[in-house]
Amino acid sequence: MKKNILILLSLLASSWVMAAGGGSYIGEKAHTNIRSVDSLRSGAKTFMNYCMGCHSMNFQRYNRVAEDLGLTEDEMMESLVLTDAKFTDKMEIAMTSAQGDKWFGKAPPDLTVIAKARGVDWLYNFLINYYVDPTTPSGWNNLTFENASMPHILWELQGLRKADFEVTTDEEGNKHKEFIGFETIQPGSMSEQEYKDTVRDLVNFLDYSSEPAQLIRMSYAPWVLLFVSVFTLLAYLLKVNYFRDVH
Ligand code: HEC
Repeated sequence: MKKNILILLSLLASSWVMAAGGGSYIGEKAHTNIRSVDSLRSGAKTFMNYCMGCHSMNFQRYNRVAEDLGLTEDEMMESLVLTDAKFTDKMEIAMTSAQGDKWFGKAPPDLTVIAKARGVDWLYNFLINYYVDPTTPSGWNNLTFENASMPHILWELQGLRKADFEVTTDEEGNKHKEFIGFETIQPGSMSEQEYKDTVRDLVNFLDYSSEPAQLIRMSYAPWVLLFVSVFTLLAYLLKVNYFRDVH
């Protein structure tokens, strides 16, 4: 009997774990919440203001985003679309990848499914870990993505920081660089917390765009889990009934 209950509990637990999903990344957690429409709207705004100068979102359309974020056509066109694009257009940009290669050394990639490729935690850390580095062509460097050719686009919000490293040389003469901490050179227009919240919303929007159906899927999830739980219980009761006469 005890064993049966244990099996039942572990079945239930594994169904919950599988449903919750998960990835692993060392660094700060992004803690995004796909169900927060306010966060998605704020992220969309930051994306269109700061990222679409270089990055397209070719597999999204403005009207789809508006619908998913509960915005009317007017709200979308007035507050979010900064180009002369039409409401039904794809979220494309004018820069070609050849121009991107020429200007930045590496063309800015399309960001529609970047959250699937990198994961939200990586994206969050990438966007909060920029620092000034006079030795690189862009003048910036990044703890999460070393020598990235993308400059720190949000520096006015976060401020200017330099990174302190401790360089040690081992017996074989190899140099090791260890990160000690950041030092603020010039504060940004936002506090550290406000900046992190802004980036969290932006990453949340990138996560949504990589799979818009998540919004629907998440609203089904509790019902699916309820079904799995009830079904497991019924299956268990059935088993108890069948095995009553088996000795
Ligand atoms: C001035 C142009 C420019 C702007 C604006 C810009 N980026 Fe980039 N971005 C780049 C370039 C160039 C790369 C390629 C970097 C590389 O691979 O070295 C890049 C790469 C990236 C990557 C890494 C993709 C990967 O996995 O290799 C992410 C994520 C990203 N950008 C996000 C953003 C976000 C979010 C914004 C808005 C806050 C933004 N970018 C604004 C130029 C830009």
